Amino acid sequence: MAVDRYVVVGNPIAHSKSPLIHAAFAAQTGQNISYDRLLAPLDGFASAVEDFRDGGGKGLNVTVPFKQEAWQFCNRLSERARLAEAVNTIQFPDGEIFGDNTDGVGLCRDIGHNLQHPLKSKRILLLGAGGAARGVILPLLAEHPASLTIANRTASKAQQLAEQFHAYGAISASSYAALAGQSFDVVINATSASLSDALPPLPEGCFAAASLAYDMMYGKGLTPFLLFAQQQGATHLSDGL
Ligand code: ATR
Repeated sequence: MAVDRYVVVGNPIAHSKSPLIHAAFAAQTGQNISYDRLLAPLDGFASAVEDFRDGGGKGLNVTVPFKQEAWQFCNRLSERARLAEAVNTIQFPDGEIFGDNTDGVGLCRDIGHNLQHPLKSKRILLLGAGGAARGVILPLLAEHPASLTIANRTASKAQQLAEQFHAYGAISASSYAALAGQSFDVVINATSASLSDALPPLPEGCFAAASLAYDMMYGKGLTPFLLFAQQQGATHLSDGL
């Protein structure tokens, strides 16, 4: 049986557990695949994808920092990827470059189903305004939270997202400093800070009683964000694995 070739493309990429995860999926579903990590130069995303496709690659996952560039690069998009303006999954049907975004459905299913933590009527704080954050905003709003606040180091990018998605629910933007004195039931780290063992500059006191802290990244043990959340009294801790 022919082997279907897949990769996950990013920079950095050595940390990615996608090859392990997809090998497990393939074993469960009887697929004959290879799945590798592809390190693309920061200015070489498009040619890395084209070379992979031209070499017979079947599809790929896209991670930091290329999700928004991938959205521009694709010539066909799923509705959810079009709205998010970010792509984490690419395939090549009929010569096309088709982009989808599964970040939001994956996150909401993990929180609601696996963790049994309903998001309805919760106050949600989303940290970050890059490709990872974009992918999860509409699926989070579809869960009907009481509010969704986006905080970003570059506050203007959070503001832009709140304006772009304001028709879809109770969304607002904040700087990190302006979060002081507010508390949230669910705090989701969609920044890439954990990749460099950094902590987003979240003020103390943002975690409400019985809150969930969720890091979309994963590391060995608790990420700096999850350690901080634990110190701040968050009772439920989870990472993106
Ligand atoms: P991704 O695909 O993971 O979203 P990205 O598009 O490069 O990657 O976005 C990275 C996000 O992490 C951005 O929101 C970035 O904040 P800025 O917009 O201000 O650059 C955020 N980020 C990265 N390192 C961070 C850190 N140490 N503290 C806080 N935010 C950080």
